[in-house]
Amino acid sequence: MNWEPVFDQLAERGFAVVDDFLDAPLLHLLRERMQVLEQHDELEKAGIGTLGDYRIRESMRGDYIHWLETGNPDDSAYLELMQELRQRINRTCFLSLSGEEFHFASYPPGSYYVRHLDQFKGRNNRMISCILYLNANWKESDQGCLRIYPESGPSDIEPLLNRLVLFRSDELEHEVLPTQAYRRSITGWFLYQEPGLGFL
Ligand code: OGA
Ligand code: MN
Repeated sequence: MNWEPVFDQLAERGFAVVDDFLDAPLLHLLRERMQVLEQHDELEKAGIGTLGDYRIRESMRGDYIHWLETGNPDDSAYLELMQELRQRINRTCFLSLSGEEFHFASYPPGSYYVRHLDQFKGRNNRMISCILYLNANWKESDQGCLRIYPESGPSDIEPLLNRLVLFRSDELEHEVLPTQAYRRSITGWFLYQEPGLGFL
């Protein structure tokens, strides 16, 4: 895979889209893993920063999540790939990203995530957002696009199977438009932890 144009776009426009990201076998395993998590009711209602109020949370984002676990072979295969991607970003973009965190996310029909930035106030270590979509047979009528707001104007990205989207967590505002179908992804962030602040 030629990453150069991807990192160029990330630097110049603040976002990049990569189609056909994973090999078919790992993609299949991760989709099955997500299905099992849903069947066993192992996804939980996602929160919003430090907002504890259920009604506020509910009105802002409607997805259910499960953090990837290093003890699960499929999760750790994906986490290792993301670690490699982080190291590649560091080498190419002269960054010193120091970690990553990823969760499965499922948006039931009717749910959405209002316009926001991924870098929370007071917790500014999310540097690059990275989303892999797991939706086979996605149709335009399912809606549920990722709408991004770069300087060049809003643009909609369909959550198509095996599509990876990368963007700057600190500057690209985005939202998930109300979806008509179940909308599944692995969503995460490359992090920068300031040396010496690990104890906070
Ligand atoms: C998020 C988010 C976008 C998407 O989880 O912070 O903005 O397309 N997700 O799922
Ligand atoms: Mn987001």
